[in-house]
Amino acid sequence: MATTRTLTIIKPDGVQQHNIGDIIHAFEQHQLKIIAMKMLHLTKNQAEGFYAVHRDRPFFDSLTTFMSSGRVVVMVLGGDNVITRLRELMGATDPAKASAGTLRKQFATSIEQNVIHGSDAPETAAFEISYFFSELDISK
Ligand code: CMP
Repeated sequence: MATTRTLTIIKPDGVQQHNIGDIIHAFEQHQLKIIAMKMLHLTKNQAEGFYAVHRDRPFFDSLTTFMSSGRVVVMVLGGDNVITRLRELMGATDPAKASAGTLRKQFATSIEQNVIHGSDAPETAAFEISYFFSELDISK
């Protein structure tokens, strides 16, 4: 199995609801290795840059306002098949459709305020990791 990396964000709702510990605990229980981590408060402009792929979606302004509404925790995770394994742990984008036991089923309140982000493919992960971290942050 390929060892790879992904980017995850505990969104402002997860931070405000005190889910940071719950989510990190879940990562550790599922052998998702934390390689780098930082807490920050995105500007609207920074949130727009991160979600640029969604620029034409009707929810873009609301999403980027939400993502810049409070502090977030950004992490690089590593491990075998980590992109897929993280997305399984997160659950469906819409918490109403998420499976029992997933992070979004447990903690998310809406399709927008859905607690956690995870990269959806290797190319996306490469862009998203480089958006927040330098090579030095993620080297051995
Ligand atoms: P995320 O995994 O961070 O990727 C894009 C985000 O856009 C998604 O989680 C949700 O927060 C948000 N999103 C996706 N679809 C919708 C929608 N239909 N309405 C509002 N927000 C959405």
